[in-house]
Amino acid sequence: MKNKEIMDVPPSTAFKVVDVPDPFREVFERRGGQGTFIGPSEKDSPWVPFGENAAIRHLAFDVSNNVFSNVLWIKKPGVIGTHYHRGRIVMICLEGSARYLEYDWVAYPGGFIQEVPGEAHTLVTEHPQGTKLFGWMQGAIDFYDENAQFVQTADVWWFINHYETYCRENDIPINPQLYI
Ligand SMILES: [Fe+2]
Repeated sequence: MKNKEIMDVPPSTAFKVVDVPDPFREVFERRGGQGTFIGPSEKDSPWVPFGENAAIRHLAFDVSNNVFSNVLWIKKPGVIGTHYHRGRIVMICLEGSARYLEYDWVAYPGGFIQEVPGEAHTLVTEHPQGTKLFGWMQGAIDFYDENAQFVQTADVWWFINHYETYCRENDIPINPQLYI
């Protein structure tokens, strides 16, 4: 016998707005945040160059948690430098393919990647069309050159500055939806 208490199908398929009872609605309205939406247009968020062969489409900045989200586009076969993570990352491959020189797997569209603090690795794509990777990232990323010399830290402040500098230089309005 199946336990009827356990939901194994959605409880409603009604195509309607349901007014969910929330005992803390008033508190939420005073103190709560708001979800955001970034459409696919470059008006919502432009592709900002990241070196010669890559661009970043910024999607979210959360300064309290040092969280940043974006789509990284590597346009043709190439390398994004070796980096060391101080936080957790999740990524999904959207187009093309990508891998790390340090691991034995290749991410194709739909592939899901998690990275943890303390990992250091070198991102490459060998796909003729490069790759697009959606990422939700927490914590600083330290970049190193090929001689293992530290170059720069990219954290939420770096990502905000990357986005805002490009917008300023190109007369693109800053989109408040990026700030969560
Ligand atoms: Fe990484």
